[in-house]
Amino acid sequence: MVALKKKVSLTGIKPTGNLHIGNYFGAIKPALELAKTYEARYFIADYHALNAVKDAAVLSANIREVAAGWLAAGLDAERVVFYRQSSIPETFELATLLMAFTSKGLMNRAHAYKAAVQANVEKGEDPDAGVNMGLFTYPVLMAADILLFDSDVVPVGKDQTQHVEMAQDVAESFNFNYARRDVADAEGDRLGLKIPSALVRENVAVVPGLDGRKMSKSYNNAIPLFCTEKQLRKFIMRIVTNSQSVEEPKDPDGSQIFLLYKLFTSVEEQAVLAARYREGGMGWGEAKEELFRVINRELTPLRERFNAIMADPAKLDATLAQGAEKARSIAAKTLLRLRKIIGIQ
Ligand code: TRP
Repeated sequence: MVALKKKVSLTGIKPTGNLHIGNYFGAIKPALELAKTYEARYFIADYHALNAVKDAAVLSANIREVAAGWLAAGLDAERVVFYRQSSIPETFELATLLMAFTSKGLMNRAHAYKAAVQANVEKGEDPDAGVNMGLFTYPVLMAADILLFDSDVVPVGKDQTQHVEMAQDVAESFNFNYARRDVADAEGDRLGLKIPSALVRENVAVVPGLDGRKMSKSYNNAIPLFCTEKQLRKFIMRIVTNSQSVEEPKDPDGSQIFLLYKLFTSVEEQAVLAARYREGGMGWGEAKEELFRVINRELTPLRERFNAIMADPAKLDATLAQGAEKARSIAAKTLLRLRKIIGIQ
C-alpha cells in the first residue's frame, strides 16, 4: 500500500515587532497545531517587512525575536521546516516569473494598496505618495512564497484571505497558459502550480486588549508575550475597569479581565472565579492579581525558553540555516519544473 502523502501547510510570519498574547492565541497556537496533521512549513517573511521597516537594527532584531518567539512557543524545528524567506533565492526568482502572469489590475484591487491610495486622496496628496513597489507587488511575493512549496493550505487571518485568492488567480493564469491536457506526467507530478486554499482562522478566541478592544499592536493595548514578570504585572494592572466597588457583585463575562482569565485556565478554575465575581466582595485589584497569576504560570516556561534562545544567537542562526537547507532543496525542484514549463532551462 502506498502511504498517503500529508498535505502541506505554509505559514508566513511577518517580523513586525513584539509578539503579544493576542498573536499567541490568535495565530501562533493554531498554526503550531497544524504540524500534527500537515507537513508544516513556517517562514519569517523578512523581505515583506522591508517595505515598512527600513531601519537595519530594528529589522534584524525583529527577525530574531519573532524566530525565537515561535521556537519558544513550541515550534519544533527538527520536525517542521522553519526558515527565513531571505534565505531562499528561489522565492525571488519565482516572484519575477509570476510577474508575467499577474495583471496590474489585480494588484490595483489589493486592499492594502487601495487603503494607502485612499488615505493619500483624503489628505489631498498624490494618490501614490509613499507607495513603493514592494507594497504594490506585495501579493506577488506572497504568491511566490506559497506556490514555491506546492502548499495545499495557508493558515491566515481574515485580513490575508485576499492575498491567498490572488495567489490562486496568478497560479491559475499560469496553469491556463501552459495547460497541456494531452501530457500525463508519469511520476504523477503536476505540470503547473498547485492551487492553494486559505485556511481561515474562524473560531479562535478574540483576545481583548487592556482597553477592552481587540488586542492589537496598532491600538497600543497589547500585553507582550515576552517581558519580565514585573513588566507583565504592570501591564495587567493597567487593564481598564469600571468604577464598581469591591462589595458589588460583578458580571464575569462583561469584564475583559475575566475573558483573558478564561484563555489561561481550565473550565473548573473559571467556574470558581466566576462565582466569586458574582458574589461580590472581590475588587478589580484582586481580579487582576488572579489574572496575573495564571498568565504568569503559562508564560514562565515560554519566557525561560525565549531568553535561552536569545542568549545563544549562533544556535538560532544554525537552526534557521538548517531549515533553509531543507526548504531550498524543495524550492529548487519546483523551480526546475517551472523553468522547464516556461522554456527557460
Ligand atoms: N502577508 C502576511 C502577513 O502580513 C505574511 C506573509 C507573507 C504570508 N508571505 C506569506 C502569510 C505567505 C502566508 C503565506 O501576515
